[in-house]
Amino acid sequence: MDKLIITGGVRLDGEIRVSGAKNSALPILAATLLADSPVTVCNLPHLHDITTMCELFGCMGVELLVDEKMNVEVHASTIKQLVAPYELVKTMRASILVLGPLLARFGYAEVSLPGGCAIGSRPVDLHISGLQAMGADIVVEDGYIKASVKDRLKGAHILMDTVTVTGTENILMAAVLADGETIIENAAREPEVVDLAECLITMGARIKGHGTGMIRVQGVERLDGCTYSVLPDRIETGTYLIAAAATGGRVRLKDTQPNILDAILFKLREAGASVEWGDDWIELDMKGKRPRAVDLKTAPYPAMPTDIQAQFTALNAIAEGTGRITETVFENRFMHVQEMKRMGADVDVEGNTVIVKGVEQLKAAPVMATDLRASASLVIAGLVAEGDTVVERIYHIDRGYECIEEKLQQLGAKIRRVPA
Ligand code: UD1
Repeated sequence: MDKLIITGGVRLDGEIRVSGAKNSALPILAATLLADSPVTVCNLPHLHDITTMCELFGCMGVELLVDEKMNVEVHASTIKQLVAPYELVKTMRASILVLGPLLARFGYAEVSLPGGCAIGSRPVDLHISGLQAMGADIVVEDGYIKASVKDRLKGAHILMDTVTVTGTENILMAAVLADGETIIENAAREPEVVDLAECLITMGARIKGHGTGMIRVQGVERLDGCTYSVLPDRIETGTYLIAAAATGGRVRLKDTQPNILDAILFKLREAGASVEWGDDWIELDMKGKRPRAVDLKTAPYPAMPTDIQAQFTALNAIAEGTGRITETVFENRFMHVQEMKRMGADVDVEGNTVIVKGVEQLKAAPVMATDLRASASLVIAGLVAEGDTVVERIYHIDRGYECIEEKLQQLGAKIRRVPA
């Protein structure tokens, strides 16, 4: 398995481009299954999760054309199998996103039940109950969710018990082809949900209220193909900003979208960074200073994303003062803490809160990535540590960060990939 070797101590300085958002690209690819004619998806990031989704389409017999810019043209009408097998779902939970579209368009779907994962139990009960409310017959058998509907799904009033991103996306994709009106209450307001809704609208769907807690959908009989470009990745953006701040450096990010990053940008200013932005760029300058530790609490959008808390923990590890980071979205999302301790971080976990007392210097150590965002936090820790940090099991990073070592090299970091 590949490793990353990072020689810490370099202040990041430079400009890089932000890639398309993984969490937008995955539901938008799933949504292409709803269209009667080909859909072209642009600005897709080069990531393992995107490849896995394309592999899943391959398994289902869906024809894909990929051009040199990684734009993917999906011909959903070529589908032969309405099954998402265990072998693929186990490597990517987001495969569950094909459940709603397959059921709505073809009347049947079999999707392997995603198991537990490194960051908690992550059930899919709300995806299932939402589809049942729309008239789907669903059984869980032999480890598979088997869903069918006679004729068409019916519009329904659905109140989600918990704010769930992929749950909202699955119900939304099912609702666009349902008969009548669907109301999704307590819907996720994440920008990626909005991006999916905008793509569906471009395909001919009738959706209102996306970006609020109540989404209204008037079902239509069919959707057409379109060309759609996914929005920039706010978590990738946040990760590079935090990396620059932790090293006392400067970074300019282009092709990003600052207006969906408020929680992160305000917190970085609180940490002492000078942060400026325009329509599609953000510049952060730490001017060589050590950051101040920050307190934060994760919650659904527009609050602080859970996908960025591990990276802030790395920043706090070398900051001035003590910071408290509380995780309210997932249980068990502190796997990076033990690894950071091995690098000399002064970290304690109390319930769902991580308390970090900043130290002047972390020391390099071999560390192991356990999930996607935890891996990113270990890379940041490596960038500020004294000596050579070896980060193992980086396949997690490749699931969510496009060319991470090349982008960091462009910012001056001493980082290299050692193939297995
Ligand atoms: C998505 C993101 C992930 C991010 C997370 C929270 C994608 C592909 N992944 O994951 O990067 O960390 O949102 O912002 O977009 N829950 C239930 N029942 C359900 C579904 C969810 O109880 O049926 C709970 C989960 O256990 C969790 C909470 O709801 O505690 C939020 O999870 P959810 O928003 O569903 O996360 P994902 O959509 O899987």
